[in-house]
Amino acid sequence: MVKSIISPSILASDFANLGCSCKRVVDTGDVDWLHLDVMDGHFVPNISFGAPIIESLRKQFPKNSDKPIVFDCHMMVSDPEQWIEDIAKAGGDSYTFHFEATKDPASVIAKIKKHGLKAAMGIKPNTSIEEVYPYADDLDMVLVMTVEPGFGGQKFMQDMMPKVEKLRAKYPHLNIQVDGGLGKDTVKPSAEAGANVIVAGTSVFKAENPKEVTEFLKKTVDESILARSK
Ligand code: DX5
Ligand code: ZN
Repeated sequence: MVKSIISPSILASDFANLGCSCKRVVDTGDVDWLHLDVMDGHFVPNISFGAPIIESLRKQFPKNSDKPIVFDCHMMVSDPEQWIEDIAKAGGDSYTFHFEATKDPASVIAKIKKHGLKAAMGIKPNTSIEEVYPYADDLDMVLVMTVEPGFGGQKFMQDMMPKVEKLRAKYPHLNIQVDGGLGKDTVKPSAEAGANVIVAGTSVFKAENPKEVTEFLKKTVDESILARSK
């Protein structure tokens, strides 16, 4: 059975106070992962941060702590093979590349695993879910984007839910992540469609009370997982 995972996206954090900003959401106790959006200004029309920031943040959340936080690296970059080694050295745990960014997903997956990272593949809204199937058995997670990648704070695309439903029906044990516009209003359709990994930037980092939001997100996903198991 899959587990509910809440992965707040640091794109919505206060970058000048990144460590404190992240501790505030991790301290809710509902957060096992942090979602790190790396953008190269080429695959997407925005630039965010890269391995040096991830390495600094890792020092605030050591891998050998009692409750290690998974660094979920969402690589919105062209030529995804290029950054695997740097992200592994910086302390990343999971490496999500985009199907649209490579001609050879299988070799990207192999290289990610060779560097000891979990391998995940993401698809943009215009990419069909069928593209994922040939690789799904080799993946630790599939990311179904619910906005066009590049910016936080966009509107959730409900019409992506049939993709999640199809994938969940075929792969009951796969981690399925949704990313973009997730919050208290949109988590239910995502969870009911079968997503178990919820990325949430604005709704968590900009909340007055992040605990209230993370708890709601986690509870909603847990309820759907339970309902599916019956
Ligand atoms: C968008 C990023 C998302 C983004 C989500 O390209 O991949 O992770 O930070 O932000 P919200 O939750 O604000 O839509
Ligand atoms: Zn993301």
